[in-house]
Amino acid sequence: MPGAAPDNSRASLHGHWSSRLAFILAVTGSAVGLGNVWKFPYMVGQNGGGAFVLVYLLAVLLIGLPIMMAEILIGRRGRRNPVTTMAILGVEESGTAAWRWIGIMGIVGGMLILSFYSAIAGWTMAYIVKSATGTFTGATSETVNAEFVALIADPLTMGAWHTLFMALTVIVVARGVERGLESAVRVMVPALFFILVLLLFYAASTGEFLTALRFMFAPDFSRLTPGVVLAAVGQAFFSLSVGMGCIMAYGAYLPQDASIAQTSVAVVLSDTAIALLAGLVVFPVVFAFGLDPAEGPGLVFQTLPLALGQLTGGALFGMLFFLLLAFAALTSAISLIEGVVAWLIETRGLSRPVAATAAGVTIWLIGFLTVLSFNVLKDFRFGRGTIFDNVDFLTSNVMLPLGGLLIVVFAGWFMSPNSTAAELDPAGGRLYRTWHGLAKFLAPVAILLVFLNSVGAFG
Ligand code: PHE
Repeated sequence: MPGAAPDNSRASLHGHWSSRLAFILAVTGSAVGLGNVWKFPYMVGQNGGGAFVLVYLLAVLLIGLPIMMAEILIGRRGRRNPVTTMAILGVEESGTAAWRWIGIMGIVGGMLILSFYSAIAGWTMAYIVKSATGTFTGATSETVNAEFVALIADPLTMGAWHTLFMALTVIVVARGVERGLESAVRVMVPALFFILVLLLFYAASTGEFLTALRFMFAPDFSRLTPGVVLAAVGQAFFSLSVGMGCIMAYGAYLPQDASIAQTSVAVVLSDTAIALLAGLVVFPVVFAFGLDPAEGPGLVFQTLPLALGQLTGGALFGMLFFLLLAFAALTSAISLIEGVVAWLIETRGLSRPVAATAAGVTIWLIGFLTVLSFNVLKDFRFGRGTIFDNVDFLTSNVMLPLGGLLIVVFAGWFMSPNSTAAELDPAGGRLYRTWHGLAKFLAPVAILLVFLNSVGAFG
């Protein structure tokens, strides 16, 4: 609809963020979580180090950032839950409501991600207690390993922590998104950063810091298989929370005068800094204690307790660290469930507490597939591995990149430049042209090539 007047008049149904900072904090709360501290290091370790990190960084900058901007601008323009927003804008900009399938896929994706996310967040909560009680003080790698193995081997304990985490998520979401979220993120993200920096000093003293630097930043291109490239791109989506409409849902509450570009850059920088920092703490410990970098999902839970156990006051710092990480996971979990909750409220007429409970119970039940993937069902393997491995692959490496692809294609090709510029940069200056070029050509082509290239990796 070239020439159509920009429609900035819709108001959100759930109120607005009180300021630009509040929005930055909320999106940061969504982005920073287990993806940075738990998933990033183990993915780097499993996928050969530097080459993975390089592709990850490129994907964050050239694909993740423009998609984040696209999601926020679409969200703010539609001002509804992602399904309704995509339907409204789909009709306005391209004459069809079929675009709502992006929102539907995002809601399903968010529920699937949260199902395993909650199980892992449960480990984090178990580690608050383990650290506080001094389990790791001066511990050897054998002790630390035995603690982790015992935790995941027991479906009841793991299930109980998973249940507690889902219950907390539902309680927070039932009471409304905003209350408490802003102040929690404001304290939590800097505090998490601070403890990681503290651990970095320890990591630098292990004698294996250079080995770790080389592992993370000297790319061995022979490791760069199509599967590794797909995994790196998928991790970029996962870590930034893009591709599933969650940032779109948050954008719906963004005041009209806030700068989308500045906000996105701030979030992307802090998210990436925390992931790299986590890697820089984990890998020196891996090499100093002779652990296996390709250990998998347990990597962080086997390395950080070792590092913390060597510090004076390690029990206290350990407790604080896992507490902060659990909080970071909670603010991400809220964003993962908010899509389906907003949808239930707006289209099914449920109250917020009922919607949150219904969604929470469903996700909690699905989560037991992940809980059992580490014990009773750990030998039940197909496709990518355990049930958890498959849910993780399907969401991070298929659904998020596919959602992201459709979102940029919609924003770059189907929305009129008038509409997108009205949100991003009404003067249509260099910022706008750069974004438009990335959203229209580079990001979609890159995602398509990664997909095509990895067809074999889907087998
Ligand atoms: N970005 C979150 C993390 O890094 C996880 C997440 C993914 C949250 C997708 C929302 C949407 O932990």
